[in-house]
Amino acid sequence: MDRMEVTEVFAGIQLPGHLHTAQSLQYAQDFQFQEGDIVIVTYPKSGTTWMQEILTLIYSQGDTEIATTVPNWVRAPWLEHTYFKETLKDGEGPRIITTHLPSDVLAPALQKSKAKVVYIARNPKDVAVSFYYFHKMAKFLPESGTFPEFLDLFLKGKVYYGSWFDHVKGWHRQRKNMDYFYITYEDLQKDLRRSIKKLCGFLGCPMYSKEVDKVEQHCKFPVMSQNLMVNYSLIPRDIMDHEQSKFMRKGVVGDWKQHFTEEQSAAFDNVFQEKMSDCDLHFVWSLD
Ligand code: A3P
Repeated sequence: MDRMEVTEVFAGIQLPGHLHTAQSLQYAQDFQFQEGDIVIVTYPKSGTTWMQEILTLIYSQGDTEIATTVPNWVRAPWLEHTYFKETLKDGEGPRIITTHLPSDVLAPALQKSKAKVVYIARNPKDVAVSFYYFHKMAKFLPESGTFPEFLDLFLKGKVYYGSWFDHVKGWHRQRKNMDYFYITYEDLQKDLRRSIKKLCGFLGCPMYSKEVDKVEQHCKFPVMSQNLMVNYSLIPRDIMDHEQSKFMRKGVVGDWKQHFTEEQSAAFDNVFQEKMSDCDLHFVWSLD
């Protein structure tokens, strides 16, 4: 497969060469957003696929036709990926665009545009666990090493896609400079229906209660994990090996507790406090 061993470095961040080239990244940075574009922004493993599904279904008023026949990377393509230019279509509905890029790369273009931005954050402890397993199955990422080794790199921001802390803080600093909606993976877990309704309000896309029912039903983990259009089982095994770990792995809040020792958790908390001391975001990671 193409460029599986290649690492692209862009804006100081390492990215898999299988999906990114210098040209595709430059194209992303120079991209002109249109009014009506909706941009899903995440650090990997934070609920990107979930949000792609929710927005697809909101825009189809709960009709599952597109969600069950068109892969997520076609209906909500990643701006920075090599296939983006050929994939993004000017269709009837708004264009859903996905990105993991940091704010300093995209903020200049987004500030000038009327695009809407949806940012999803997730407890970084759960992100680290999910990302660790993703490294095992995604063959375009480097070997994960042991979990303690991976955690160390994650906390230092030395993993692909860069530092979780920088990503969250960078985008949060831009929130007043663009049409920006912030939500967490934990919000979605706690009250999916309420989250869908809030998103409808932000997108200016009112829905009947029965339509919200359909979105909610289709976006539950057991349903999504069976949907071939989002569970990545269409991807050949030499690129994503589901025998190593499923893409739709567990879909829960707090799986980090099964993986972190007390010492690792305390060390993580220290780094979190230090790195986030200049950020006024208030996080609620538990569902209680
Ligand atoms: P886990 O590995 O913890 O299970 P991304 O799409 O950003 O790569 O994030 C993937 C994570 O989101 C995985 O987490 C996946 O299981 C979870 N996820 C995807 N769809 C979900 C859903 N409908 N409900 C809960 N979690 C979901």
